[in-house]
Amino acid sequence: MINVILCGGNGTRLWPISRTLFPKQFSKFGNTSFFQDTVLRNSKFSSKHLIITNLDQQFLAKDQLSEIQNFTSSYILEPIGRNTASAIALACHSLDRDEIILVTPSDHRIQNEQEYEKIIDQGKKLAEEGYIVTFGIKPTHPETGYGYIQANNNSVVSFKEKPNLEVATQYIDTGNYYWNSGMFMFNSGKFLSELKKYAPEIYTKTKEAFVSAEKYDQNIVIQHEKMMSIPDVSVDYAVMEKSDSIKIIPSDIGWSDMGSFESLYENLDLPKDNHGNISKNKNINVNSKKNLILSNKTVATIGIEDLIIVDTPDALLVSSKGFSHEVKEVVNQLKVEN
Ligand code: GDD
Ligand code: MG
Repeated sequence: MINVILCGGNGTRLWPISRTLFPKQFSKFGNTSFFQDTVLRNSKFSSKHLIITNLDQQFLAKDQLSEIQNFTSSYILEPIGRNTASAIALACHSLDRDEIILVTPSDHRIQNEQEYEKIIDQGKKLAEEGYIVTFGIKPTHPETGYGYIQANNNSVVSFKEKPNLEVATQYIDTGNYYWNSGMFMFNSGKFLSELKKYAPEIYTKTKEAFVSAEKYDQNIVIQHEKMMSIPDVSVDYAVMEKSDSIKIIPSDIGWSDMGSFESLYENLDLPKDNHGNISKNKNINVNSKKNLILSNKTVATIGIEDLIIVDTPDALLVSSKGFSHEVKEVVNQLKVEN
């Protein structure tokens, strides 16, 4: 079994911490980054990791790997990101068709590692039988940033990526829906045949890109113009919503997505003061509650509640909690200005 680690996203919802050249998966809020945690967690099952990231981020990934241990790793390096269907397809083209693959994103926390080991074992068996395996998380609220899987035991009735709030609320009320954790298991040949069936252009263009890539040592470097020709679609839309070979394993693994500042506030192990404030550095607090403050300066707060304050050398974000998904809009405006 090989662990394919997807870590080429921009993580724009965590701007200004997460940047194109330093995305969130490589940020450290404790001793290790989410990327390093992912490698460490999965090295129990797989002594090999295939890391797919952006060409500009390769040294971040390589340096962070050497910090934790000398793991056997190979790299697929993308000059630009073309989303997760493309990244997973490139990985599959580079592997034996019967290799079992555990695909993991690198923006998650998993707190119950014992349970995690169990579900990976179950997933491996189903993947060996030729299924595409997803891992479902019991939803707690109608989050619109995730995929939803309607399940009947291990069988998947439907898969809907990022529904709107009304639909997500209906799903939660219905009860037999899970969040898609974004981790998948399958054999490489099965994934490629489903991709060929449901997204033939991605299949063909990724194959061409893989064949023409430059290969040296443990690196596969995709050519820019080949990469540009691949449609930009996530694996959830390209394959998961369409395939009828999917099985789901309900997973009670203490999963949390680190995709937003609200989630960092809820799920990071940073200590809270008596008023529920989290502050990376010294916070002089006068009548302030439940704020997340990430700054290297001393920050004084007076009479504020439920705010997100993120201070970096060249940019400062101040947002109400519950609205930080709009950070994407900020990033879009910045792109227009540049
Ligand atoms: N190599 C590479 N290239 N990696 C990528 C690319 C790319 O072009 N785009 C994204 N990734 C990586 C990200 O770094 C992340 O680790 C992972 O792939 C998933 O991408 P996200 O962009 O974070 O996806 P998402 O959070 O919007 O949605 C996915 O995850 C949710 C759970 O967190 C979906 O699978 C949802 O269905 C799921 O609920
Ligand atoms: Mg994500």
